[in-house]
Amino acid sequence: MKGVVLAGGLGTRLLPLTRITNKHLLPIFDKPMIYYPLQTLINAGIDDIMIVTGGNNAGDFLKLLGNGRQFGLKDISYTYQEGEGGIAEALDLTRNFADGEKVLIVLGDNIIEKNIIKEKEDFEKQKEGAKILIKKVPHPSSFGVPELEGNKVIGIEEKPENPKTDHAVIGIYMYDSRVFDIIETLERSDRGELEITDVNNAYIKDGTMTCSVLDGWWIDAGSSPENLAEATQLVIKTGANNLT
Ligand code: DAU
Repeated sequence: MKGVVLAGGLGTRLLPLTRITNKHLLPIFDKPMIYYPLQTLINAGIDDIMIVTGGNNAGDFLKLLGNGRQFGLKDISYTYQEGEGGIAEALDLTRNFADGEKVLIVLGDNIIEKNIIKEKEDFEKQKEGAKILIKKVPHPSSFGVPELEGNKVIGIEEKPENPKTDHAVIGIYMYDSRVFDIIETLERSDRGELEITDVNNAYIKDGTMTCSVLDGWWIDAGSSPENLAEATQLVIKTGANNLT
């Protein structure tokens, strides 16, 4: 299985911090944000990784992460997203890199406490389709919100005003190679993006989506200055991803 960190977008919710740098290069305690999602993939046993970045500071990722040797990788692949046309648009840029294999995607601003190797191995055994992870949160309307029937997800709404559950779909997604054909069928949302929630709903519709509840804490560190600060507090308190 291949791994992808999505670190495009313009990070406007964190202005002025993001006026002169990319959101994923901002510090979370003593490390740049992107170290955490990268380590999430490595801890799950993935060593073939592509970073999708964008904006004005793409070269800084190369300076920071280099050839990946400092993370025990043989190399890292990079690609560049023009503009910020959405998570699914950024993912589409990894089609050649994925080369028909399954992919594990981590959003560049999502930080988790624990290892997801078990979920990744479960997905390796899954014949086809996709897998998402969900987590109970105090304010679900800031996220993709799953509608659940038992432990089965029967639909996802993106940032609904009246959420159907108190869970969020976190920014870690596992897909088979069909994901790229699904992206081709998408239309832009009202915010002008190709939405990852539409990708997930396509898998739900054809009955091949599975779902697990994430163990340990999760934070979308890039969605507000408050979350950026809280991520640092969480990392100081308990550590994350074995990064010390
Ligand atoms: O954090 C989990 C949430 O992430 C999910 O619950 C939502 O369903 C999903 O849509 C997403 O919501 P956000 O609105 O928080 O996504 P955001 O625009 O902050 O983008 C998250 C990451 O995706 C960002 O750190 C970099 C990457 N990205 C985003 C965009 C819009 C790209 O690489 N390219 C893009 O064009």
